[in-house]
Amino acid sequence: MSTFVKNAWYVAAWSKEIRRKLLPRTILGEQVVLYRREDGTPAALVDRCPHKLAPLSLGELKGDQVQCGYHGMTFDCSGTCVRVPGQQNIPPTARVRSFPLVEKYNAVWIWMGEPHLADAKKIVDVPHYGEPGWGWGLVDGQYVHFRTNYLNITDNLVDPAHTTYVHKSTIGNAAAEDVGVKVEQGEDHVLAYRWIYNASRSRWPGKWSTSRALLTDVSTTTCTRPRCPAWTLSPSMPAPSRPKRTRTAACAPSA
Ligand code: FES
Ligand SMILES: [Fe+2]
Repeated sequence: MSTFVKNAWYVAAWSKEIRRKLLPRTILGEQVVLYRREDGTPAALVDRCPHKLAPLSLGELKGDQVQCGYHGMTFDCSGTCVRVPGQQNIPPTARVRSFPLVEKYNAVWIWMGEPHLADAKKIVDVPHYGEPGWGWGLVDGQYVHFRTNYLNITDNLVDPAHTTYVHKSTIGNAAAEDVGVKVEQGEDHVLAYRWIYNASRSRWPGKWSTSRALLTDVSTTTCTRPRCPAWTLSPSMPAPSRPKRTRTAACAPSA
């Protein structure tokens, strides 16, 4: 049984990953196909044709619609079937689920829960994003697959105290040894943090700013010797890219 929190925003992909082609991705255990419409807004459907369950991502993108690669049934970005080759009648059950999306912080966020609860204002706040001197490029990266339960990652990321010892050659800093971690609990979140004052600059390679280094733990990082107990994969840090505008995908069924 799934233990995922469904009514929440998740990053489905980096903005640059969603293009004019069908991108399959597994999110919260669900097969999803993502693509960008002709006007640039992203769209997401269940990656499963209701006819004979072929993955829609193996089909073709035709304008803003997805044509199944098996028998050609075609779905618009709301998941409504708009064409059944060889017949006029389109059964009302011939549809796939679509998902609310919001493009923000250089990423495409998806809501896998009840659609009417999707509120873009609930996307996690990233203070100072885009402001000069705050390393806007830190909200960028690659796709990383951790071979562990996601709860282990969550546990790791609310535990900044380990960085002094586990990451002493990169983002760790002896000045933080006795700095306590503060924890705040909100209605639907837990925030763990600490401010380390008057510390020397991180020993992360100079081309990365200090602010970037502080957040490498949540994107792609070198959790090398010893690795974070919860982490098992550590690709290299990518080059930064510019932030993109925020936009919400409003996908109405075709008339
Ligand atoms: S399986 Fe998609 S049209 Fe037949
Ligand atoms: Fe870590």
